[in-house]
Amino acid sequence: MHSRRNSLPPRNRRLRRTVARLLVAVPALSLTGCPSGDDGGCIPYDGGPARGGSYETLLDGGVPTNENCMEVCLRRWTNTERCEVQTSPATYLDGGQGVSTTTYCHYYSPGGCASDGRLPEGLLEPRVEAHCALGAHFAQVAWMEAASVPAFLRLADELKAHGAPEGLVRAARRSAGDEVRHTRVAGALARRHGASVPEVELRPFSSRSLEDMVLENAREGCVRETFGAVVAAWQARHAQDAQVREELGRIAEDELRHAELAWAVDAWAAEQLTPAERQRVRTARIEAFHELERLLAEQALEDVLIQQAGLPSRDAALHLLRGLQPLIA
Ligand SMILES: [Fe+2]
Ligand SMILES: [Fe+2]
Repeated sequence: MHSRRNSLPPRNRRLRRTVARLLVAVPALSLTGCPSGDDGGCIPYDGGPARGGSYETLLDGGVPTNENCMEVCLRRWTNTERCEVQTSPATYLDGGQGVSTTTYCHYYSPGGCASDGRLPEGLLEPRVEAHCALGAHFAQVAWMEAASVPAFLRLADELKAHGAPEGLVRAARRSAGDEVRHTRVAGALARRHGASVPEVELRPFSSRSLEDMVLENAREGCVRETFGAVVAAWQARHAQDAQVREELGRIAEDELRHAELAWAVDAWAAEQLTPAERQRVRTARIEAFHELERLLAEQALEDVLIQQAGLPSRDAALHLLRGLQPLIA
């Protein structure tokens, strides 16, 4: 019985080798974040206008236009004020050519910078209340960890309903338990910096096809959680705050297993899907990779987050993400 912990999901050697190599190959580049001032790590935390890009389609599968792009934006940023759509020629990682349509959503952001986790469909934007950059960051992380709990419980239910191996179902349930612990840890760090964790608000789930489940797994698991696992491991090495190093060391190992689960789900599902469905899943993964790349390129972290929380600077984050590219393609 006790061996279950080590066998599910199976270890993904390629993933682990890639992550281990990245952690030593990417230099902790000099600080390129926003100046933090001399307030000992407590930066007044102000929200402000922000812009996010999305490759998502309309609910009916149509391509968004300037007239209807609010539908796409409001799914992810509920406080979107305006949006516009841009198209450009795209070269995919496999060398294929196409047209990429990006919806840009302009919204009011409570700010903060967080490593990525598995976020469920229908998640509503949080309102973080904090006076320090570190407090705001950990509050946002705790909120994302809490949001990952229903995402994994839904994944477990759906895997069971679609006849997936029991090992994958159990691994998804166990991951939900991990995220409960991560929520507690990040919440404690947030409170240490005077911040409170916002409630997770979710629109009710509705049933969906296997393909839709796998598309979400591709974006949230194979891309965002895989990158989140790398970032957590990076923080465990680079945070100046000893408590962050210690806690993130434990979390990083869990997150690596969550990434392994995402890839195991992807591999199992590939056998159930048609070639056309598999191609759509692959495209979703590649698009999610580029969306994350774009978001990282636009972000500017306060120095205190790079130093105390150990977050990778913008350049380091881009190096880490691009190092995952061979897995994603
Ligand atoms: Fe987590
Ligand atoms: Fe996770």
